[in-house]
Amino acid sequence: EKEVTCNKDLSGKKILVTAGPTIEAIDPVRFISNHSTGKMGYAVAKAAYLRGTEVTLVTGRTETKKPLFAKVIEVESAKEMFNAVKACHMEQDAIIKAAAVADYRPKTVGTEKTKKTDGDMTVELERTDDILLWLGQHRREGQFLCGFSMETQNMLENSRKKLDKKNIDMIVANNLKMAGAGFGTDTNIVTLITRERDQELEMMTKDEVAHRILDEIFCR
Ligand code: CTP
Ligand code: CA
Repeated sequence: EKEVTCNKDLSGKKILVTAGPTIEAIDPVRFISNHSTGKMGYAVAKAAYLRGTEVTLVTGRTETKKPLFAKVIEVESAKEMFNAVKACHMEQDAIIKAAAVADYRPKTVGTEKTKKTDGDMTVELERTDDILLWLGQHRREGQFLCGFSMETQNMLENSRKKLDKKNIDMIVANNLKMAGAGFGTDTNIVTLITRERDQELEMMTKDEVAHRILDEIFCR
């Protein structure tokens, strides 16, 4: 593992990392969520701290151990994550959105537990806000915006579309179909997609991926 404990090459920089899943309530008992464990985002937060940055970590609910070094803001829903990000985005030199934000939430949330009937049931969903899209529209000058993209097909093409649509600087693309990549693993296989190029990295630990992301943002 590349530990850059002595080299505080990013000191004075402020970064915001979002990590983990969001959960969207259906009623007081059930929710809709995804398999994100937060490991990749937490690795970025740690690497950034080791290199001297001031780190804010907005995290969805996860079992991954919360770091002591960062300002940690715990959220549950996409709405809460959006509010936490809006409250601190302006002061950040870079924002790294590793969180797996729900794209849809139940349109209405029951105040009581939904009782089952003999028939089927339908949950109507509505779109959540796209936080990264909003950040691209409200960017502070010189601020670097990095998103993550999970795809099971046409990874490069779909990811580059997100880079353009959201007006961001980099997308870290994961192919979920590859062994050693994706949810819950300690390694990852990613491609760093910027306006200029696609940089395909070999399989490496999430800590190493985190350093490569920071190199790409600050050391080019
Ligand atoms: N993202 C976000 N807010 C949302 C949805 C996604 O900020 N409501 C961010 C994620 O944190 C990630 C990036 O957008 O950094 C890409 O997320 P992804 O789910 O791969 O792409 P989407 O744009 O949501 O498109 P789709 O899920 O249809 O592939
Ligand atoms: Ca999505």
